[in-house]
Amino acid sequence: MRVLGIETSCDETAASIVERDASGHATILSNIVRSQLEEHAPYGGVVPELAARAHVSHLDHIIARAAASAGIKLNELDAVAATAGPGLIGGVLVGLTTAKAIAAALGKPLIAVNHLEAHALTARLTDGIAFPYLMLLVSGGHSQFVLVRGVGDYQRWGTTIDDALGEAFDKVAKLLGLGNPGGPEVEKLASKGDPRRFNFPKPLLKEDRLDFSFSGLKTAVRLAAEQQAPLTDQDVADICASFQRTVAEIVATRARSALEKYAVELPGQPLRLVVAGGVAANQAIGAALREAADNAGATLIIPPIPLCTDNGAMVAWAGAERLALGAADPLDVAAKARWPL
Ligand code: KG4
Ligand code: ZN
Repeated sequence: MRVLGIETSCDETAASIVERDASGHATILSNIVRSQLEEHAPYGGVVPELAARAHVSHLDHIIARAAASAGIKLNELDAVAATAGPGLIGGVLVGLTTAKAIAAALGKPLIAVNHLEAHALTARLTDGIAFPYLMLLVSGGHSQFVLVRGVGDYQRWGTTIDDALGEAFDKVAKLLGLGNPGGPEVEKLASKGDPRRFNFPKPLLKEDRLDFSFSGLKTAVRLAAEQQAPLTDQDVADICASFQRTVAEIVATRARSALEKYAVELPGQPLRLVVAGGVAANQAIGAALREAADNAGATLIIPPIPLCTDNGAMVAWAGAERLALGAADPLDVAAKARWPL
């Protein structure tokens, strides 16, 4: 089956066509992503109203490109999937309404996809892995461990009680006067800095739970920056390196505990940790996770970064997985700003 996937829940306008064969093997026929970074750059963050308008302006063209690059016509599709939440509601409405229109015009099934589920199932698209597995989603909007038992069968083991990890990178970058998105900027400067110069706190880490908290860490970074002001380039690099080391240690510690819990609760199951979300691009965090996984005897799976960040292929794939189980949604299905897994 061939499924069109539409993603518009944040600042990427994306469409993709994915083919799933009867054995569950996936082929990405096209994957087109248009980032709105430039539109939002003057504001230092994503402006929801601007995002929704940009999705309106560009989505039709992105879908046409996805079809052309896959070499198929829309009427050759078997289903249309779109992110129906969670996310910025204006953008979600644009994508979901467009998907409904295409599905209605073609007389094909519509699948309303949970964006978090799309991230959660991506490793099956890229690596063809079986259930169950443990997922760590670390993006600009989410930081959570999820036990993935099957399509539609998820158990959240921990989340952030304040900022998401990507958001913490973005806020630290902003307070240091770096560009947006902050993650890549912080990582670049961290490579020139001393990761041991500052000892930042690791909030919540002593507690026996799988949740994250990054807001106190961000405040500590701000205080350190204020104490050192005026900051030299080396100060900024040292702050970035120390912050990045701290979050890598936090994430690795939590991953170790999550894998221990997994081994206890799912005895005999292969230990697999899958990473999703934009922060998966961070090499220091990746290395810390690899060490944690190796020590636990677990396999670490980090899909190619363009499939870790928001994209249409993960939405098309989640749609295909649902369709293969006979699921589809009515044309009046609602968009949801909040929609926990
Ligand atoms: O998954 P994503 O593209 O979008 C959503 O939030 O859904 O993730 C974007 C987030 C941003 O906060 C960005 O700063 C962070 O991922 N990020 C990184 C890196 N690349 C992107 N954080 C740390 N290091 C990176 N190399
Ligand atoms: Zn996302």
